[in-house]
Amino acid sequence: MIRVGIDIGGTGIKVGLVDENLQLIGEGTIPTRTDIPFEEQVKAIARCVTETAAAAGYRRKEDIASVGVGIPGIANADGEVIKCTNMGWFHMPFREVFRKYLDVPVFIDNDANVAALAESVAGVSAGTSSSVFITIGTGIGSGIIINGRIWNGFHGIGGELGHVILDLDGVPCTCGNRGCLERYCSATALIRMGREAVRDNPESLILRSAGGDPSGIEARTVIDAAREGDPVAVRVYGEYISYLAQAVASVVNLLDPEVVVIGGGVSKAGDFLMEPLRKEYPRYVIFNDQPMPEIKLAVLGSRAGVIGAAMLS
Ligand code: BGC
Repeated sequence: MIRVGIDIGGTGIKVGLVDENLQLIGEGTIPTRTDIPFEEQVKAIARCVTETAAAAGYRRKEDIASVGVGIPGIANADGEVIKCTNMGWFHMPFREVFRKYLDVPVFIDNDANVAALAESVAGVSAGTSSSVFITIGTGIGSGIIINGRIWNGFHGIGGELGHVILDLDGVPCTCGNRGCLERYCSATALIRMGREAVRDNPESLILRSAGGDPSGIEARTVIDAAREGDPVAVRVYGEYISYLAQAVASVVNLLDPEVVVIGGGVSKAGDFLMEPLRKEYPRYVIFNDQPMPEIKLAVLGSRAGVIGAAMLS
């Protein structure tokens, strides 16, 4: 028997088959499509699950113990997606539609929550009593683990670090508010900051690396240019790190977990991200003369999403 984990991301949807030792034994992927109806997207996901399982030799639905789904939003216990802004899904009966195509038990939770769970069982925070996982990608997600369990609040809507408001009149967010933390700390934010900076500094390596086209600037473009010592990139990246350090410090001020884990696309910058972050975050922690959490890099990478989703039951 296998468990299936599905990670619904902004650009791609990953399917992972997990055995009883939480080892990934098969993977599939399809593009995220926000231009097709919900039913069609769910059908494509179910097909990807069936095909990935069949390719690994699991052809009967009885071979699949469960399907877990990590979404960039929230769902309820009935398997209904309540709100998933990036996908444009509001009150969508995911479980019901999915089971039309593959009739197995289906569980849904937030993408960052499931990745946090995976890291706390099979990753860098294994063995800790409390951890907070922060994923830095298109948005900012967070998963809070307390005593081995996901804490997403009494009503299931908590743990949304990305939507803590930093600036009342700040950058408009996809959620409808302004100035949300993810507008300053996500990969999307770094891209925006890079594009803004090259407007007044067209000589910057950031723009040259993007072939002279600001729309070609990615988070990686800014990070690589900063690594090369380009002064504009160094300034932008430094500012970005300050925002991130404030986010980490806010987590510490609120929860003081044993460990804070950093994952998601931007974390691929490795030490170039972690070293300045570790150095800077304590200055925003109120009791910074006391022992503080370790800030660790996630180790499961993009596997965390599918492994954690497969652990849902
Ligand atoms: C969403 C979160 C999600 C995060 C990462 C945010 O915009 O509000 O629910 O965990 O992005 O995907």
